[in-house]
Amino acid sequence: MLLGKKKKNIVGLDIGSSAVKLVELKVGRGGRASLVHAGVAPLSPEAIVEGTIMDSSLVVEVAGRLIRERGVKNPNFGVSLAGMNVAIRKIHLPTMSEAELAESIPWEAEQYLPFPVSDANLDYVVLETGPETMTVLAVAAKKDRVADYTSVVSQLGKTPVLVDLDVFAIQNAYEYNYGAPEDRVVALANVGAYLTNINILAHGQSVFWRDIIWGGNNFTEAIQRELHVTREQAEAIKVGERVGDVSPQTVFGIINAVAQDFAEELKRTFDFFYTTSAHDRVEEIVLSGGSAHLLNLDQVLKDRFSVPVEIMNPFKEIAYSETEFPPEWLNRHAPALAVAVGMALRTVGD
Ligand SMILES: Nc1ncnc2c1ncn2[C@@H]1O[C@H](COP(=O)(O)OP(=O)(O)OP(=O)(O)O)[C@@H](O)[C@H]1O
Ligand SMILES: [Mg+2]
Repeated sequence: MLLGKKKKNIVGLDIGSSAVKLVELKVGRGGRASLVHAGVAPLSPEAIVEGTIMDSSLVVEVAGRLIRERGVKNPNFGVSLAGMNVAIRKIHLPTMSEAELAESIPWEAEQYLPFPVSDANLDYVVLETGPETMTVLAVAAKKDRVADYTSVVSQLGKTPVLVDLDVFAIQNAYEYNYGAPEDRVVALANVGAYLTNINILAHGQSVFWRDIIWGGNNFTEAIQRELHVTREQAEAIKVGERVGDVSPQTVFGIINAVAQDFAEELKRTFDFFYTTSAHDRVEEIVLSGGSAHLLNLDQVLKDRFSVPVEIMNPFKEIAYSETEFPPEWLNRHAPALAVAVGMALRTVGD
């Protein structure tokens, strides 16, 4: 770090379809982070539908209240996108100069992206340069969607300084707290409400990214269907509250069946990863997202894949005051805060 040039911290604002999450960290001397602000505010399901902000004033209202309640003063905010709004591709090219690369990337990306390059904000990084070929990671996000999310930040009176991707943010949170696993293949799975972000790390490198449309909503909907209850009741039942005379065994049965389906979907994703890489085994699964705490989900995955399944604690290596952040509260929300932590670990200009 240059003398007198202090890096500016970013407030990570994770606008999920079920809740807005916020984390601000302070990175002290020696690079150790401490927690300045953390918050979670539920969002009603009509605000964001299938990854698209339908009611931005509602999102602004909920996020604004959270910012005021927590007393967040920092103007620099980051947001994160996922799902159909983004695409990540590894592109292999003949080795060329930086200028040539800058020129060819949009042309190359056009062939690999699921939406036109003209509709996308495009970014790339060179992963490897050999004498003949080079590997480039191209990342694209739909312009309209980026504008929707950054506009929420502007409407909050804050400055959007970072647009992240959920899959990258969870990797950042994981590696800060657990290190980059050099000796094994680890699948990070951030199980939200609408989708699950998957990032597979192999021997210290991120090698596969995918968002699958599968998450907590699938469980809620199954409970609704099976028990003929409202969405609100189903949400309550899902997190272990007693509603009416529904027995815990009945709930367990429903959740377990959906968890098996989820495991199959994950299996299909891993199988696809094996066909596209030199790897043939995921050796550990790390869960984050609000649904990581879902009853027995970790056990179902353990049984299905016969590998260790951990629940990520994105605050493992982050210092915090227990009076300001009651451990019971922080532990409960920790997995859901992984994306926000991952963003907050970045600094302006990173
Ligand atoms: N204790 C719990 N047990 C089971 N599920 C839980 C628990 N706490 C939260 N959830 C579920 O976690 C989900 C919310 O997680 P998260 O905040 O990561 O999602 P999101 O970011 O809002 O959604 P998405 O990114 O998919 O749009 C909801 O489906 C919620 O019901
Ligand atoms: Mg999310």
